[in-house]
Amino acid sequence: MTKWGIIGCGRIAHRFMQGLNALPDNVLAASYSRRAETVDAFVAQYGGEASSSADELLAGDIDAVYIATLPDTHADYTIKALNAGKHVLCEKPATLNLPQLEEVLTVAKASNCLFMEGMKPPFYPLYQKLKEYLKQDPIGPVGYVRAGSSVADISRDHPNFSHALAGGALMQIGIYEAFLAIDWLGETEEVQAMGRFSGMEIDMFSIFQTRHRGGYAQLYGGFDLHGKGDALICGTIGHITIHKNWWNPAKATINYLDGRVVEIDEPFTAGGLNYEIAHFVELMKAGKTESPIITHEMSRQMIKMIDDARAIVGLKYIGE
Ligand SMILES: NC(=O)c1ccc[n+]([C@@H]2O[C@H](COP(=O)([O-])OP(=O)(O)OC[C@H]3O[C@@H](n4cnc5c(N)ncnc54)[C@H](OP(=O)(O)O)[C@@H]3O)[C@@H](O)[C@H]2O)c1
Repeated sequence: MTKWGIIGCGRIAHRFMQGLNALPDNVLAASYSRRAETVDAFVAQYGGEASSSADELLAGDIDAVYIATLPDTHADYTIKALNAGKHVLCEKPATLNLPQLEEVLTVAKASNCLFMEGMKPPFYPLYQKLKEYLKQDPIGPVGYVRAGSSVADISRDHPNFSHALAGGALMQIGIYEAFLAIDWLGETEEVQAMGRFSGMEIDMFSIFQTRHRGGYAQLYGGFDLHGKGDALICGTIGHITIHKNWWNPAKATINYLDGRVVEIDEPFTAGGLNYEIAHFVELMKAGKTESPIITHEMSRQMIKMIDDARAIVGLKYIGE
């Protein structure tokens, strides 16, 4: 049985519990959130102990911690948890910026604990089946990725709009696209970006294009346009569409130059976080300190791309 602690009992923590409850041999042992009423309601719904501080939670009998606060506190809680000898699955973006991530990775290395950023798409059955399928029916070397997400119906009190909580389109949405571009095209060599703030302290809409070892990516994220949310991946003899919402992938179409069309349908269950949790637990049980899929280097490259794009659009967070 893997005993979990959760820090930050908000929206994504509820979805995490949907995933956790779908897996055998995993249990929520303790939860902590800033407000007592939040944690009490969470514990009433999912069980386990309510902790009155992160220190209390980390001193308890738990194996792994899921950090589900906002990015302003990810690094602090991750470092605390690793120093307490707990394995850490931390929500995306793992930290505010690359220097913070380097601190986290230094502590992770010294702790000998598993640390993984919760970047969910590669663990979905569709994404895995697609990669597997391409091994026997490839689209040739991939040279272009186009992806985006702009969600216009988020309430203005959502943390995505908060500068203090490291909101903004690049940070909250762009990080997924950073993953996609790096996963298909390799390391980033150049970042170009434009963003508009529209009177807010965060970028409401940003576009960024990147050059990689393997080719180019064109990416966007936003909160005030009704975007489409699919992804296009182009190779020399075919292209793939991962249909909306590509970051919760369930359907892909591959169009080959010779006219063949291959559809891959692979619905996900339990909200979709169950797959990354299962991967994390498997690694933990095998004594690994790093995921071979969301590697520490992948986390470095993703946040570096967002740092570079933020520098160009002129978005700095508190303390930067
Ligand atoms: N993987 C995904 O699919 C996905 C989807 C959405 C979001 N996310 C990521 O998940 C993270 C959380 O997003 P969310 O949408 O769940 O936000 P949220 O609903 O605001 O939840 C965050 C929770 O953390 C608690 N909290 C805030 N500051 C805290 C602190 N200093 N110490 C302890 N608890 C604190 C708050 O609870 P109180 O009531 O106690 O203040 C809040 O309920 C973000 O990094 C976001 O990017 C991931």
